Amino acid sequence: MIIAIDGPASSGKGTLARLLARHYGLPHLDTGSLYRAVARKLLRDGADLGDEAAAGRAARALSAADLDDPGLRDETTGEAASIVSAMPDVRAALLDYQRTFAHQPGGAVLDGRDVGTVICPEADAKLFVTAAAAVRARRRADELRARGKAADEHRILEDIEARDRRDTRRAVAPLAPAMDAHLLDTSNLSIEAAFEAAKAVVESAVRKAMAERPPEKPAGL
Ligand code: DC
Repeated sequence: MIIAIDGPASSGKGTLARLLARHYGLPHLDTGSLYRAVARKLLRDGADLGDEAAAGRAARALSAADLDDPGLRDETTGEAASIVSAMPDVRAALLDYQRTFAHQPGGAVLDGRDVGTVICPEADAKLFVTAAAAVRARRRADELRARGKAADEHRILEDIEARDRRDTRRAVAPLAPAMDAHLLDTSNLSIEAAFEAAKAVVESAVRKAMAERPPEKPAGL
C-alpha cells in the first residue's frame, strides 16, 4: 500500500505520515528532507543558492548520511530548500529515488508537496493536509520554544506565507492537491483527531481498492 501525503509547511503532514507509517508498519520517507539536504550542501559549500548546475550536482551526489544531518530542520535550510526545489534539474535528480522508495515490496508512506501528483499518482490513498497559515506559524513557534529556541511568531508567519507562495507558484511540480486527494484541514484538530481522520481516509481507500479488484477465478478454470 502506498500512502501519499502532501501539504504546505507545518501543516502536520510529517507528524501524520510518521503516525500512519507506524500504525500500518510501513517505511516512511519525508521527501522534504531530500531538498533540505541539497540546500544544506550548497549552504555548507558557500555556493550560490541560485546556481542550478551546482544544485543539480549536489542532488545527484546525495547520500544517506546527508539525510541524517541534524541541521536539516533549521529555518534557513527550509527556506533554502524551497528555493532549490523549484529547479527542474534538482527535482529530476531526486525522482527515481522517491519512486523506488514508494514501490518497495509492501509499499510506503511518503510526505511532501508533489507525492500524490508527480511521484506517485497511482498511490492507494492520498491526503492533502492543510491548516490556516496563522495556526501553522503558532505551531512552528511552539515547536521552536519547546526546543529552547527563541521564536518570533510574526516573522515565522511571514516566512510561511512566502514559502507557500514559492511552493505553489513554481512551474515544476507546484504544491497542489491531486484531483483524487482527500483534503484534511487540521486547523482545529488535535493530533489524535487528525490521525483518526487520516486513518479513516486510508481505510476507505483500501476498501474501495478491494471492491474494485476483479474477482479471482476459481482454481482449475
Ligand atoms: O516539507 P519541508 O518543509 O521539509 O520542505 C522543504 C521544502 O522542500 C519546501 O519548501 C518545498 C520543498 N519540497 C518540494 O518541493 N517537494 C517535496 N516533495 C517536498 C518538499
